[in-house]
Amino acid sequence: MGQKRIYIETFGCQMNVADSERAATSLRAQGYELTESSESADVVIFNTCSVREKAEQKVFHRIKDIKKQNSEKFPIIGIMGCVAQLMGPALLESDHSLKMVIGTGATDRIPRLLKHIADTNEQIIDLHGREESDIWDASTTDRHSKYIGFVPIIEGCNKFCTYCIVPYSRGRERSRIALDVICEGQNLLANGYKEIQLIGQNVNSYRPHSDIGLQGFAGATAFSKLLRAISSTGLPRIKFTTSFPRDFHDDIVSAIEENENLCNWIHLPVQSGNNRILRAMRRGYKAEEYIKCVETIKNSRRRISLTSDIIVGFPGETEKEFEDTMKLIEQCQFDGLYIFKYSERRGTPAAKLNDTVTSDEKTRRFLSLEKLQMSIQNKLYNSYVGSTVSVLVEGLSARSSEDLTGHTTCNKVVNFKGNSNLIGKIVNVCISEAKAHSLYGRLI
Ligand code: SAH
Ligand code: SF4
Ligand code: F3S
Repeated sequence: MGQKRIYIETFGCQMNVADSERAATSLRAQGYELTESSESADVVIFNTCSVREKAEQKVFHRIKDIKKQNSEKFPIIGIMGCVAQLMGPALLESDHSLKMVIGTGATDRIPRLLKHIADTNEQIIDLHGREESDIWDASTTDRHSKYIGFVPIIEGCNKFCTYCIVPYSRGRERSRIALDVICEGQNLLANGYKEIQLIGQNVNSYRPHSDIGLQGFAGATAFSKLLRAISSTGLPRIKFTTSFPRDFHDDIVSAIEENENLCNWIHLPVQSGNNRILRAMRRGYKAEEYIKCVETIKNSRRRISLTSDIIVGFPGETEKEFEDTMKLIEQCQFDGLYIFKYSERRGTPAAKLNDTVTSDEKTRRFLSLEKLQMSIQNKLYNSYVGSTVSVLVEGLSARSSEDLTGHTTCNKVVNFKGNSNLIGKIVNVCISEAKAHSLYGRLI
């Protein structure tokens, strides 16, 4: 084998992180070595994202960097993930130095593709689906963290929101059977993992073709049964993301209330506070219905933290329609908000609409919303001062080598002074100070 050392760089969502983990695991099993730098690698693989223009461009910048690199030998470059799936052969045609295009279903076949290149030195492309037998192998060992494990439960999307590329890059929704999810959770627990995150484009749309693994668990939907089933493994912390508002069921809140190890955090993207825009986005709910979900979450006996996503400047969004989003944000009091400027994606229905909102106007709306959210978040974060929270210590803080950092069960970042032997443990921290996006405290 001429190409022993492989470097994988990942952009995009947790699904891509999980795919890179699986790719690394299968490559290692085939005798490849994973390296931490592109300079020492024989093969460089970029796992790409297409969700917005800026995300998509990242890979092309990185390819340019690789070409400038002073390595003895030019590495084999492979593109995997959503850009690979969407652009396919066009990628190979546009750049002859690219050797491999690995679609979103081809992760487990990378060793085979590399063998083909070694044998023929020809470009190769694989845009086929995942194989039944290796769909989300539970035995992934090369993970991004030793304490937090990503566990995919559903992939793809059937919603076809008019602005979004994901249904085209990830295909239709496919749910993994509960038994496999539970096995992976048990595996992670046995290997010292403290937290798992059930991941999927829309986790609460979970609908497996068989109920194996869910029998005997009560729940209004397959997803809330899965939450209870996975909770019974005794894993200390279970988080899940992302939830889709139209498939939200109050029973998710009941499951969280019944089980301490189901974490008190829900990410429920709303996108807009205006009903005409929500309809044009084809989100399938009205602002009032979204607010009902928020009320259920906020009225829980547990303090469940709630985060969301917003798109500003969807084609035709008027000032008055944007104001409705501002009002909804004021009303919902989110613990965190990801704000995105609308980015036209080729091939989506919204791309046919006139992108009427100017770039300056999108920026203005973005900044107004950010300002409002910061004032809400400031109040909310300050309300933690004086209280004690449970933190999974993930490592040293990037800002100061004396500080440890980790997340609460409500997914807030907490920094505090402590010995590095606490890394990987769950500790209690009394909060003394709140910053814009993190909390500071002292170890109890
Ligand atoms: N499935 C999730 C979101 C997945 S994509 C849901 O529907 O809630 C993550 C976020 O990217 C979305 O919530 C949306 O806010 C943003 N996004 C997706 N497509 C976008 C586009 N074309 N322009 C700007 N933001 C976009
Ligand atoms: Fe995209 Fe909508 Fe699917 Fe979310 S639900 S991934 S925004 S199409
Ligand atoms: Fe990006 Fe694909 Fe995820 S487009 S957000 S990497 S599903």
